[in-house]
Amino acid sequence: MKLNKSIFALALLIISRLTVFAGEGMWIPMLLQELNEKEMQEMGFKLSAEDVYSINNSSMKDAILLFGRGCTAEIISKEGLLLTNHHCGFGSIQKHSSIEHDYLTDGFWAMNKKEELPNPGLTATLMIEMRDVTSEIFNGVNDKMTEAERNTMIKDNANALILGFEKDSPYKAKIMPFYEGNQYYMIITETFKDIRLVGAPPSNIGKFGGDTDNWMWPRHTGDFSLFRIYVGKDGKPAEYSEDNIPYTPKYHFPISLKGAKKDDFTLVFGYPARTEEYLPSFAVELITEIGNPQKIKLRETRLDIFTKYSDNNPEVRIKYATKHARVANYWKKMIGESAGIKRMSAIEKKKDYEKKFEKWVNSSDYTKNEFGGIISGFENYYSQLEPLSLALDYFSEDVMAMEVIKYSFGFRKLIELSNVKKPDEELINREVEKLKRATATFFKDYYKPIDKEVTAKMLMYYDENIDDLYKPEFYKEINKKYKGNYVDYANHIFEKSIFDDQNEIEELLNNYKPRDYKKLVKDPVYKISNEYYDIYLSKLKTPIANLYTKIDSLQRKYMKAQMEMEPGKRFYPNANFSLRVSYGKVEGYSPKDAVYYKPFTTLEGIMQKENPDIYDYVVEDRLKELYNNKDYGKYADKDGSLHVAFVASNHTSGGNSGSPVIDANGNLIGLNFDRCWEGTMSDIAYDPNVCRNISMDIRYFLFIVDKFAGAGYLVDEMDLVE
Ligand code: ARG
Ligand code: ASP
Repeated sequence: MKLNKSIFALALLIISRLTVFAGEGMWIPMLLQELNEKEMQEMGFKLSAEDVYSINNSSMKDAILLFGRGCTAEIISKEGLLLTNHHCGFGSIQKHSSIEHDYLTDGFWAMNKKEELPNPGLTATLMIEMRDVTSEIFNGVNDKMTEAERNTMIKDNANALILGFEKDSPYKAKIMPFYEGNQYYMIITETFKDIRLVGAPPSNIGKFGGDTDNWMWPRHTGDFSLFRIYVGKDGKPAEYSEDNIPYTPKYHFPISLKGAKKDDFTLVFGYPARTEEYLPSFAVELITEIGNPQKIKLRETRLDIFTKYSDNNPEVRIKYATKHARVANYWKKMIGESAGIKRMSAIEKKKDYEKKFEKWVNSSDYTKNEFGGIISGFENYYSQLEPLSLALDYFSEDVMAMEVIKYSFGFRKLIELSNVKKPDEELINREVEKLKRATATFFKDYYKPIDKEVTAKMLMYYDENIDDLYKPEFYKEINKKYKGNYVDYANHIFEKSIFDDQNEIEELLNNYKPRDYKKLVKDPVYKISNEYYDIYLSKLKTPIANLYTKIDSLQRKYMKAQMEMEPGKRFYPNANFSLRVSYGKVEGYSPKDAVYYKPFTTLEGIMQKENPDIYDYVVEDRLKELYNNKDYGKYADKDGSLHVAFVASNHTSGGNSGSPVIDANGNLIGLNFDRCWEGTMSDIAYDPNVCRNISMDIRYFLFIVDKFAGAGYLVDEMDLVE
């Protein structure tokens, strides 16, 4: 009896702990011990905060890199083997692909180190250390300063700190704000510049389910690619050279063959880019009810046109593969985000919270003085921002979607340098060389019929949706001379312009004389981009910047106020592309009434989705053969099936793609690559019931490398934990 009672009490305790934990939060590695270690260990973590982040000993953070411009990657062997997502390596894989070597379709495997492919421009950055520099940054800052004075002071302090650090260090430093500018950290980094492609599965594994399954669970994507870090003979980062050697890391992840079971502890360590969890209701309304619907419509238009031209044309498909993936990704994300905000009544909840907040502000003279007027200030500034923000959205999603017009913006500097009394020849030459490189890159993936059709549509949408105040002059010509026929107008500019013709542009650049700028200025494509630019400069840039200065200042105070209002609550700072830890557990969820999604998928599900007629669901013969023979080797789960992916309650965001998913013992069990549809609003508001990150099961990765591709020598390089 007594025993039963205590078991009951224990169970209750466990249940209450489990329910208290919400999975929400992206924590600062340096503060883990103070804020999170206890909870992590209660949830099953067998290691300590020091194993995750240490500046004295090697720790997990020594194996996590910011990959390229927006992903995470981790080191999985003592020879610098780097694992990230297929969609993160996609641009590099595409660059090496052609009709003859279609690595996107067929996959790529270097069968020895000599075959690994260099990727100029691709970098991977390690964080060496982070330091709290809040007090140094605020040195000399006081409440009497204007926002501009304050910002200048902070910038000067930051520059002094960076200079002071870098002069005695081989590393780079930067200063980043946290908690909306209430805290500052110095981030010290080392950047590797010779990153070679080692392996990638065929797209129908690495991108299985394509854009149809993107942002969705249940998922069956083998979303991985492999790279290797090379360094100079001295072991230091170096530009590509044939003589470079594989990097010997301070730490690399052991890989578990045990897999992830329901309720197992998981930790995700990586680079979430941007979240906005502390916004006022007005901002959430602007994003999800005004901005998103417009952007969704514009992107949909582009995607339809891309698809129309690439469906039966493999060359165009390769050219537009990266563009299509990029546009489609956030198109779908925005749909899910707006729907999720609605489903969880996030705007209403924020409004309730704001009422509670105002009550607190009005409860004492101190709070009134310090934090009065925040909410009404937000309301005022966001209503002023609305029309400007819509026009700005159209600049990024509509004007910049017209490819030659966007490309022609790049010629502004050359024109400026040329249109002076005494042109500086050296500067001009340098600019011309830069433009030659940009031109080669641009035309490699350019298909004029697509751009022409997109341009006509984008001109039209701008005309229809944007206030006349923000419309360039040339719209008068469209409406008068072309009677509002955007297609005719687009045809006309493409016919007259040289910007859509690689030969003509190259000829001009190869023999460039300063007086040639006149030809550029008169070009109809340049004229259009120039008129748009003028509108941006004269009507948008400054008012928007001024409003954001005010909004940012309020947001900083709002954050500080919330922390004072709830002193017992643990706050995590918004994601800002700095290294973060999230933790949770393997768990499924209920997406709607009566439905429950299990936390993992298997190869069985790939066979269920198989459809040879649909590009996204083609299954390779080799994979089918392995499936039919149940030839899973040591990569099978205890239940006999081959697990492909799993979901867990780790709070992640864009940029976390490629992040390692680590088990209670610090072994790699998965590779994060996405979030589930019902939880795509987690960048703005987190719902613990449905927000899940999606990861590839690491055993599926090993299976594909070893059994499918026959690149077992790569697996030999890794430390497997049986
Ligand atoms: N949704 C994932 C992330 O945001 C994966 C995107 C890559 N796949 C795609 N179909 N575009 O990056
Ligand atoms: N797929 C995203 C990325 O590329 C991850 C996410 O948004 O959950 O970073």
